[in-house]
Amino acid sequence: MRISVVGSGYVGLVAAACFAELGHDVVSIDNDAEKIGRLQQGEVPIHEQHLPELLARHRNKKLTFSTDLAGAVRQSTAIFIAVGTPATNEGDADLSYVESVSRAIALGINDYKIVVEKSTVPVFTSNWIRKVMLLDGAPADLFDVASNPEFLREGTAVVDFLYPDRIVTGADTARCADVLRQIYLPLTDGSYYRRGDRVAVPAPKNWPGAARIIATTTKSAEIIKHASNAFLATKISFINAVANICESVGADVKEVCEGIGSDSRIGNRFLSPGVGYGGSCFPKDLKAFRHVARENGYDFTLLSSVISINEEQRARFLRKVRTALWTLKGKKIAVLGLAFKGGTDDIRESPAIEIVKSLLKEGCEIRAYDPAANDRAREVLPSQGISCYESAYDAIKGADALVILTDWSEFAELDLDRVRATLTYPIVVDGRNLYDPAVMATYGFLYYSVGRPDVQPARRIEKSEKITAAVTGKVE
Ligand SMILES: NC(=O)c1ccc[n+]([C@@H]2O[C@H](COP(=O)([O-])OP(=O)(O)OC[C@H]3O[C@@H](n4cnc5c(N)ncnc54)[C@H](O)[C@@H]3O)[C@@H](O)[C@H]2O)c1
Repeated sequence: MRISVVGSGYVGLVAAACFAELGHDVVSIDNDAEKIGRLQQGEVPIHEQHLPELLARHRNKKLTFSTDLAGAVRQSTAIFIAVGTPATNEGDADLSYVESVSRAIALGINDYKIVVEKSTVPVFTSNWIRKVMLLDGAPADLFDVASNPEFLREGTAVVDFLYPDRIVTGADTARCADVLRQIYLPLTDGSYYRRGDRVAVPAPKNWPGAARIIATTTKSAEIIKHASNAFLATKISFINAVANICESVGADVKEVCEGIGSDSRIGNRFLSPGVGYGGSCFPKDLKAFRHVARENGYDFTLLSSVISINEEQRARFLRKVRTALWTLKGKKIAVLGLAFKGGTDDIRESPAIEIVKSLLKEGCEIRAYDPAANDRAREVLPSQGISCYESAYDAIKGADALVILTDWSEFAELDLDRVRATLTYPIVVDGRNLYDPAVMATYGFLYYSVGRPDVQPARRIEKSEKITAAVTGKVE
């Protein structure tokens, strides 16, 4: 199949590389000529596990890069739209990029093609795409519009794409549904996974051997994406609210999570209390879903609560830092993590960035480190009062306290003796609950986390007692 993917960002680039991996001939399109130039030169513009290998494997073979949208459309049977859909000031999705791409696609329709929404868009967008394409002269019988929402998570995007929980294809004609089915056939019939060594990424544990496809109407597919993100964000805000109750009464949210998460109807994933959700998807998608619900006569008040709990969570965390340090002005704070979550360099709507900005406003001196997001963060943070370092230990050296803001796995594996020795005061405020409070106490820290009792330094443990104890919670 010849495929164009319009938008070479986190979703478009991963989708294009993975479609090439499945054996399709793919053109990855962007209107950012500099980005396309870098991709053509072999650069990888985002931090995403397995993506560099995949791009190297298919570049100039199954995968090419171009700014020529009309030319790519003419050669393709399926055109995926993967451009941004940010929030407007009113909270609805800004679909102007989707509209301008749809108009441009209309000009290149010369035989039957499907135009597929990969971007996250509100229900009815497929109708609008069809309308504007017809207005721009695309013959009605030569195209269909489909919805194929993307569920990948940044940090594990390639694995998520190639080993999906499900593939949702929304189409309103049998012909269109069939093209989508063909595109994903190597995943759904399992033939891709039987390629042995030639598979880019090994299968995750318990992989069933074939991906599940859920074929729906376009409207259902559009709602599935918004509803999925809304549900996941609700789970996060729910457990954050529970964590806040735990803090008030002196209970331990980790124990509570274990207790409720073991119920198979609830499940233990996404029950991680912390500084709240962020990123380029949940905040805007919740607002857009609430907006489209309101436009269609339903006041989705649950989502308003989810959003306000999330906003309050950051403010609560700042209060926690203040409680730990008393006054903030002039304090040197080591900050671990700037990305909105571990495994990515994406800082869009990152709680870490917001918290750092607030700390800077309060007069703190920030010593920050993120394994991938330092450069992007420098672009949005004030230049005064903050230095970015190349390692966690450089950032921690001489700081008055350590604040953990992103759940990178390397932050859960720090050499705690070294941290203790280089911090001016043994204060750790952990916004991601990466450590066990009892163990942190034995290492001599004043340790503050989310939804669990604060701890004071306790008996000093011997160096031979493994550092990993802090992660597992067991002192061996
Ligand atoms: N990032 C995620 O984890 C994720 C997951 C699932 C769905 N989504 C959705 O996918 C969509 C894209 O998200 P993203 O994170 O990849 O965005 P992104 O900002 O990383 O990438 C968008 C790309 O589109 C390009 N673009 C904009 N207008 C264009 C035009 N007219 N022609 C060609 N290219 C154009 C931009 O230059 C940019 O490279 C959004 O709707 C998002 O909600 C994102």
